[in-house]
Amino acid sequence: MKRTMAMKHLRLPLIAAAAVALASCSDSLTSADATNSEAVTLGQTLYGANCASCHGKDLRGQPNWREPQEDGTLPAPPHDESGHTWHHDDQLLFNYTKQGGAGVAPPGFKSAMPGFGECLSDEEIWSVLSYIKSRWSLKAQARQGGLNK
Ligand code: HEC
Repeated sequence: MKRTMAMKHLRLPLIAAAAVALASCSDSLTSADATNSEAVTLGQTLYGANCASCHGKDLRGQPNWREPQEDGTLPAPPHDESGHTWHHDDQLLFNYTKQGGAGVAPPGFKSAMPGFGECLSDEEIWSVLSYIKSRWSLKAQARQGGLNK
């Protein structure tokens, strides 16, 4: 009898710890965090499935990405440091990914970047951006981080 009581008491803190772990995994991801390895790992998978076809498996973008194509759209830019993704703050990158070029770019700009708001949750978008950020040098991460303040 005494033993069961002790076991019961032990179980509570364990359950509380598990709840905290779950909450911190989903609720706290409201920015791109290259130091959050869980987000980076998930983001890598999501990047491969949703972004790599245009932005490249290696994040290098499409060839001649600065030159408009015949249909007036631009090719997909790199997301590594050779592009300009790291020149933009987190919120802009988030909005661009969620709403696509049509939702964010100025009127008249013809965009080939689709919006992912229908198929990726906000946390998934932050995970993809966490992964992209994790591929920049610490120097670029710090400079881009300065834009977020
Ligand atoms: C069908 C091709 C295509 C796919 C798929 C795609 N993109 Fe893009 N993306 C583009 C193009 C093209 C641009 C260039 C800007 C424009 O034309 O709107 C762009 C621009 C961007 C930008 C703008 C900021 C910048 O300077 O780099 C971000 C951020 C971005 N894409 C993120 C993503 C993410 C994250 C995914 C996957 C979830 C993704 N894209 C999937 C084509 C694509």
